[in-house]
Amino acid sequence: MKGPYSSPKYKQMKPYTQNFRKVSPYTPGEQPGKKNIIKLNTNENPYPPSPMVKEALSGFNIENLRLYPSFVCSPLKKALISNFDESLSVKEENIFLGNGSDEVIALIFQSLFCGEKEILFPDITYSFYEVWAKFYNVKYKTIPLKKDFTIDPEAYRVENSGIILANPNAPTGIYAPLSQIEDILKANPSSVVVVDEAYIDFGGESALKLLPKYENLVVVRTYSKSMQLAGIRVGYAIASKETVATLEAVKNCFNSYTLSSLSQVVGEAAAKDKEYFRKTTEKIIKTREYTVKKLSELGFKSLESKANFIFTTHESKKASFIFEELKKKDIYVRYFNKPLIYNYLRITIGTDEEMEKLIQALDSIVKS
Ligand SMILES: Cc1ncc(COP(=O)(O)O)c(C=O)c1O
Repeated sequence: MKGPYSSPKYKQMKPYTQNFRKVSPYTPGEQPGKKNIIKLNTNENPYPPSPMVKEALSGFNIENLRLYPSFVCSPLKKALISNFDESLSVKEENIFLGNGSDEVIALIFQSLFCGEKEILFPDITYSFYEVWAKFYNVKYKTIPLKKDFTIDPEAYRVENSGIILANPNAPTGIYAPLSQIEDILKANPSSVVVVDEAYIDFGGESALKLLPKYENLVVVRTYSKSMQLAGIRVGYAIASKETVATLEAVKNCFNSYTLSSLSQVVGEAAAKDKEYFRKTTEKIIKTREYTVKKLSELGFKSLESKANFIFTTHESKKASFIFEELKKKDIYVRYFNKPLIYNYLRITIGTDEEMEKLIQALDSIVKS
């Protein structure tokens, strides 16, 4: 017999594993168990969650954990809606909640990208998109970014079954102006256009503004970055009533209760503390601009970032070398050994103190 079953690897497998699914999973940033490290590799927020989260958790009735959580999540949706401009007329029926935006996007791949044609996304972007496309057998085509790592809206004028863009993009941090997102929406009225806004709060303008005009728009947001709550796993999509109904139906084919009671209470409390959110995001933006300036004095060239990370390359030292040297000093950043970006490092913006330590470490590495 020819084909995969005759391969030596297959023959070495334990017999009962031979019918198991073989996959190429997403590789998240390292989560070193060590204490006292500077962790700048997964774009987490360096500040603790809002004090209102602590208050909500101390008031949480543990007895409630006996019960399944609400799958309607009304208080959480109401708290989110109170942060949107009233002119957008976002209602509860326009919000789809999930266990982190990763789950929301995975469900988008399963629910909204079911056409015959390919879906489109940039060649350099959040690498999970490719993993989901392969995992759910969604045909896809990657659209090259321009030489300066910006998107080319014209290139999205080809037949497709859907489009997904991260804005700001990951791992570049580059923000595409809303006029470009609108061009893509206009050119694709028969496709869903998903804008993954994981990093939008760090300087970009949200595509939410375009929702009343474009029913085919889906905006995805997360609590993991600007809301300091990567650990609670809450993400959501804002879209038309029909889009949300489809996402709900597909979700209910595998798990009705994706959001725990604790996540709902924490999410609601955090959404209400607008002042804390404003202060912490402003601080991160300020630290980002300072870091970019300091790194340029050390010979680094950083792409213009509107995210809570920077994507940077050095004039003479290889990114892979700097990455390993930083690790020796217990500073973790992200390195992608991939075409076009193999000489860049993605560095999450930490506290001022963490960034000072990073700058000192880089100073000694690049001068070595
Ligand atoms: C562009 C982008 N989208 C989505 C996510 C997923 O975030 P989460 O599942 O924590 O909401 C990430 C995480 O790093 C990301 O970079």
